Amino acid sequence: MPPYAFFHKQFMPLSEAKIGVLTHALHYGTACFEGIRGNWDSERKRLCLFRVQDHYKRMLDGARLLRMNLPYSVDELCQLTVELVERSGYQENVYIRPLVYKSSESIGVRLHDLEDDFVVIVTTLPPYLAAEEGVRCCTSSWRRINDTMVPRGKICGAYVNGALAKSDACEGGFDEAILLTHDGHVAEGSGENIFLVSNGNLITPSSLSDILIGITRDTVIKLAKNELGLETIERQVYRSELYLAEECFFTGTATNIAPVVEIDHRPVNTGEVGKITSELQKLFAPVILGRNPKYPDWCTLVSPEPVKA
Ligand SMILES: Cc1ncc(COP(=O)(O)O)c(C=O)c1O
Repeated sequence: MPPYAFFHKQFMPLSEAKIGVLTHALHYGTACFEGIRGNWDSERKRLCLFRVQDHYKRMLDGARLLRMNLPYSVDELCQLTVELVERSGYQENVYIRPLVYKSSESIGVRLHDLEDDFVVIVTTLPPYLAAEEGVRCCTSSWRRINDTMVPRGKICGAYVNGALAKSDACEGGFDEAILLTHDGHVAEGSGENIFLVSNGNLITPSSLSDILIGITRDTVIKLAKNELGLETIERQVYRSELYLAEECFFTGTATNIAPVVEIDHRPVNTGEVGKITSELQKLFAPVILGRNPKYPDWCTLVSPEPVKA
């Protein structure tokens, strides 16, 4: 089944969606994107697009930061995406990647006097980090971008930061990097937010730690509060706190909730998946399938059209 795209205001196979080599965004990173999961419920034969409105709200904020105007509202973007997923016919987990970008074929560093365009594709994505056995991390020698690169938006050019850290980590034998802020506090992974449990408290770096304000992070904060009665403390986190944590885990759309079992060659506690982490994973699984009636606004249910022979 080919990946599908909505590009230049029409639906088409991804292989037909092409841009020119002089496209501004390709040269200067002047674009922003989202990653949205569609989770396949094999019993109910439907996909649950998880928090799709929230992803598009964040994308439109990123577009504002880059002085881009999109001719679509959040509702229209959601509608388009539902149609794309319906048409694609996937009966498995899908990954949706919208992108707003400076589309003019024009040389020169700037944001003004350029055309904008929008594309969204749907495809499949293999599990990103080992969610069952746990993730082995190192602290990166790269520092997390600060507000000069607007970390609160998913700005394409800024992702060079995570790419540098991720490749160093992987080629050094780890699964993921943990980036610190410029003043040495814990920020996040290359594509995930981070949580730790310390003295029974659930803690995560605050918005002042140059993080992307993750939608999965927000989901976990709400599930911990509503279902476990556990308030999350959002504050600055020292690197050494990670080494002494009882539990640690990543959250992100690609990753869902992934336990961190080792940091800088030190096992996290016993090196096994922690109790709160696995409770949150158990709560999270039905929520992202749209099976928990307490959170109806988070789920957009889609029944894929049968694929034509
Ligand atoms: C740098 C970064 N941090 C955190 C996250 C997690 O955000 P979310 O849970 O919204 O996917 C992502 C993924 O989008 C990311 O790219």
